[in-house]
Amino acid sequence: MTGVEVVETVEGLRSRLDAERATGRRVGLVPTMGFLHAGHASLIDAAAADNDVTVVSVFVNPLQFASDEDLADYPRDPEADMEVCWLHGADLVFAPSVAQMYPEPGVPDIEVGDLASSFEGASRPTHFGGVARAVSRLFDIVGTCRTYFGEKDFQQLAVVRQMVADYNIPVEVVGCPTVREHDGLALSSRNAYLTAAERREAPVLYRALMVGAAAVAGGETNPDTVSMLMAEMVGSATTGELDYAAVIDPDTFEAPPRIARAGVRLLVACRFGRARLIDNMAAVPA
Ligand code: PAF
Repeated sequence: MTGVEVVETVEGLRSRLDAERATGRRVGLVPTMGFLHAGHASLIDAAAADNDVTVVSVFVNPLQFASDEDLADYPRDPEADMEVCWLHGADLVFAPSVAQMYPEPGVPDIEVGDLASSFEGASRPTHFGGVARAVSRLFDIVGTCRTYFGEKDFQQLAVVRQMVADYNIPVEVVGCPTVREHDGLALSSRNAYLTAAERREAPVLYRALMVGAAAVAGGETNPDTVSMLMAEMVGSATTGELDYAAVIDPDTFEAPPRIARAGVRLLVACRFGRARLIDNMAAVPA
């Protein structure tokens, strides 16, 4: 039993939040798919610190999983989620059904643009379209608010920011730093899929990013060299299947010709058995 109110209907949430805004209270929204960990908790902390009313949405969005992905197995623990929400100062949990989220078939797709075509968009071609449908629907239901996304899903954060700008959506998007385990592994609900042996190997993603960032800090300006160093590090420490190790301009998600003073973003994605993990880090010349 916690003091967090659970709302399951769109009408229920809208009327509750309209009443809050009518008295001048500011709303913060943390969109999640549940199975909350310390990374989500940090988003709830940030929302609760900045706003008067904090809503955490918990919805495992079927539209962002391809048919061969892990929708059926996606980890769920509603009771533990309520505890995390309560401990971190959330006021409301919005837990809609699929019918509440998507009542009308045939709604036109959200245009996700070029930022969504590479990396995660290339490996998971329907993913960002599905994310955009869920997130735009949540923004429509919640209304004017600040919303909190983790930098761990760096491309998702960029796609959401772009969507907000393109569609003039009245929300302010706040990016929050990645939360890591003691050995550098970025927190992710999908870490639950790792076997003990894979869990020992998975921090190699963080080490690869550190190697890349150190090379950039040390004066390396060739993005291909930095990508190669990261790929070598991953290859040296795991039999996991590297998807990409890349150096990008964070505004365009394209490889820059040279690494300039403003710096770059380093991206990695690797499959360890059932778990496909992603991570990223800023890299700036010293
Ligand atoms: O990052 C996630 O958990 C999901 O992609 C999101 C933003 C909640 C949309 O379903």
